[in-house]
Amino acid sequence: MTKTEFKRRRRQLMRMMGKDSIAILPAAAVKQRNNDVHYSYRPDSDFYYLTGFSEPEAVAVLIPGRKQGEYILFCRERDEEKERWDGPIAGQEGAVSEYGADDSFPIADLDDILPRMLEQCERVFYAMGCNPELDQQMSNWVSQLRRKARSGVHPPQEFIALDHYLHDMRLYKSRSEIALMRKAARISAAGHKRIMRDCRAGMMEYQMEADFLHECTRRGARQQAYSPIVGGGNNATVLHYVDNDCKLQADDLVLVDAGCELELYASDITRTFPVSGRFSEPQALLYQLVLDAQLAAIKQVKPGNAYNAPHKAAVRTLTRGLVKLGLLKGNINTLIKNEKYKKFFMHGTGHWLGMDVHDVGDYKIDGHWRQLEPGMVLTIEPGLYIPLGSKGVAKKWQGIGIRIEDDILVTKDGCDILSADAPKTIQEIEAIMEQ
Ligand code: GLY
Ligand code: MN
Ligand code: MN
Repeated sequence: MTKTEFKRRRRQLMRMMGKDSIAILPAAAVKQRNNDVHYSYRPDSDFYYLTGFSEPEAVAVLIPGRKQGEYILFCRERDEEKERWDGPIAGQEGAVSEYGADDSFPIADLDDILPRMLEQCERVFYAMGCNPELDQQMSNWVSQLRRKARSGVHPPQEFIALDHYLHDMRLYKSRSEIALMRKAARISAAGHKRIMRDCRAGMMEYQMEADFLHECTRRGARQQAYSPIVGGGNNATVLHYVDNDCKLQADDLVLVDAGCELELYASDITRTFPVSGRFSEPQALLYQLVLDAQLAAIKQVKPGNAYNAPHKAAVRTLTRGLVKLGLLKGNINTLIKNEKYKKFFMHGTGHWLGMDVHDVGDYKIDGHWRQLEPGMVLTIEPGLYIPLGSKGVAKKWQGIGIRIEDDILVTKDGCDILSADAPKTIQEIEAIMEQ
């Protein structure tokens, strides 16, 4: 992502904020894992979206129209000794020269400087409730200003949810964001192809996970957007299965939901395939049904359609198919109305995708499903899950979980499947697994 893009985003936000206002965003904190060990650091998505700055202990401040500079970055001071251990720190000079800040101060001076900046502003754009430490500081600063009211100090009058504005911006992806997301999806698709090719009965689920991670890492994606799910047989019917510690059996399907993160942008792909390389008849029937539902849903991804149009299409296709296979009985419209499909398909058909795998942005506006617009990216991921021991279900269908998930960009006249490189028809899957 270029410096210009981060600058463009700050400008766009500042235009929406208007004069006499201030936006305050903290960086994510470093999280401790156990003694002397930290989780690998991941910048806060909102903070990074506006700054491109990936150090912890920082606060970004935007003050539209401020003469001495509109963008102020509070960050760590350089420290030769510390940098020898942990690597370079941008410091105040770097914040200006490398990250486009108009002005920068040591983070240790936040308490001294920020109240004076707040004093000049009517409106504060701030995501309350996300960072307890900064919430507390904010409340202290405002009450400090209130106490000075008699000497003519004017505390800010309005607090506005910054996240709401920012998340609407994040919902519409720019050209460079789309390029990154396409790249992330391509890397993940290569990972899915690799595990289809290398799949052998008797291998452990975590070995398949390791192959996926290896393929992503060697292609430059060193983080995953979420914990990979590799579920063989009945494990595939557990929606959030992440133990990945069972042996893959020749007669089973395996469900793999795995997607890398690239420069903080997520991909999210699920493929389901037979461990043996060949679908059995019941597996093929259920798989084709989920694929038909996914294709019907993807057809509904176009500008002007409501966000839930794909879900409705998936539900209709699945319900019709489940009746045809004898897994549901009755009138299709009645079954849909009474949500009988939920016995086998109990989640939504997708979600927004972006810097976060379950990305930000409202799904409804004034109580109505939002319309799809060019630049939005969402997943389409219908599934069927039939655990062992399901009551009233023939044995041949049991122990099967199937989900097919792609990453879809809404375009001017329809959609573009960013994850199209990952094989998904029965023919494609059987062909690649034969190699
Ligand atoms: N991998 C998370 C999801 O599919 O929503
Ligand atoms: Mn998903
Ligand atoms: Mn997924």
